[in-house]
Amino acid sequence: MFSINQNMNNSIKKVLNFYKSINCMKYLFYSLFSIIVLVCGCKGTKDTNQSSSITKSVYGKVNDQEVYLFTLTNNKGNQVKITNYGGIVTSWTFPNKTGKKENIVIGFDSITQYLQQPPYFGALIGRYGNRIANGKFKIDSIEYILATNNGKNHLHGGNIGYDKVIWDAKVVNDTTPTLVLNYLSKDGEEGYPGNLSIQVTYTLTNDDELEIEYNATTDKPTIVNLTQHNYYNLTGDVSNTILNHSLMIDADNYTPVDSTLIPTGEIKSVLNTPFDFKQIQKIGSRIDAVTGGYDHNWVLNKKDTSLTMVATLWDEVSGRKMEVFTTEPGLQFYSGNFMDGKFINYDGKPLKYRTGLCLETQHFPNAPNQANFASTLLKPGEKYHSKTKYKLSIQ
Ligand code: GLA
Repeated sequence: MFSINQNMNNSIKKVLNFYKSINCMKYLFYSLFSIIVLVCGCKGTKDTNQSSSITKSVYGKVNDQEVYLFTLTNNKGNQVKITNYGGIVTSWTFPNKTGKKENIVIGFDSITQYLQQPPYFGALIGRYGNRIANGKFKIDSIEYILATNNGKNHLHGGNIGYDKVIWDAKVVNDTTPTLVLNYLSKDGEEGYPGNLSIQVTYTLTNDDELEIEYNATTDKPTIVNLTQHNYYNLTGDVSNTILNHSLMIDADNYTPVDSTLIPTGEIKSVLNTPFDFKQIQKIGSRIDAVTGGYDHNWVLNKKDTSLTMVATLWDEVSGRKMEVFTTEPGLQFYSGNFMDGKFINYDGKPLKYRTGLCLETQHFPNAPNQANFASTLLKPGEKYHSKTKYKLSIQ
């Protein structure tokens, strides 16, 4: 009887001790949790020292119509400026590794310079980004003749592409500053069939990503390949060429071109060629082995239409790094080979040979005439959708 009672007492003590230890652990857990919240909170306040915003100001007049400049500011105070003329990004400021904020894209201060036909600096590109051989293509055996504005070829939508039209602009600032641009590209414009209703959405996130989302619908079968033409110089100073930037492109193949930059149709391995950017490489290290410099389409390794990281650009000196994500199958890397100092940057410096580079996400050039390239046909009832984001950070 005694031993039974004693055993019971021991058991009760054990249970009580167990509960005590649980309480202790609870207190320990709550204290730890509070410390973590406090630390993260403080860090948060440090990074998020201002709220994001989007403002609108008058930028000038094009054909007697007022155009605007929109300033998107994220909660780190980094800014992207966009005008609804051509959907042009005129600047994107981001700090270097010592905290100095500089503009990392080529751009002008005023609309007048954009009206002097610069080579697509910062602009939206369409209806067909890149080249179409001889400005001709067929849909259902009907031949369409496009404007030829690049020798005998059609380039970036023709004489008045989407880089030279006024987009209708709407501002959204719910969580992140967003600019929604709409444009109705009329049936027959630059030779393209079908009224194409386009919406392009620019967003600057608090993670320093510039997101560009493209949507379009048509009322007749047509071809669509939309892209954006920022020229990047991550050094923040266009006195420097882009030859010391390092680049990675996740592509085993590229599309070789003829002397007029039209793809030959071949999908060629980059192995043992200056086109191999699978491991990050200095752009200048092999550029002289490429006739005219880099102005080619890389066949991205990604196999589906998910938003995937496909390229990294890095400037070791400033520490600025840019990652490119896209839903598209191709990437045009253009090393600014036609830049000749004729145009003057916003800071008064001439935009000389190879002082900016473009990473244009796209379907392949001349795809409408090349059966082995993914189709760019859009039919009534279908929805064109494409998304790309450029993410800046310091490394
Ligand atoms: C594109 C083309 C280049 C050149 C530039 C603008 O990126 O691929 O060949 O025309 O635009 O100068």
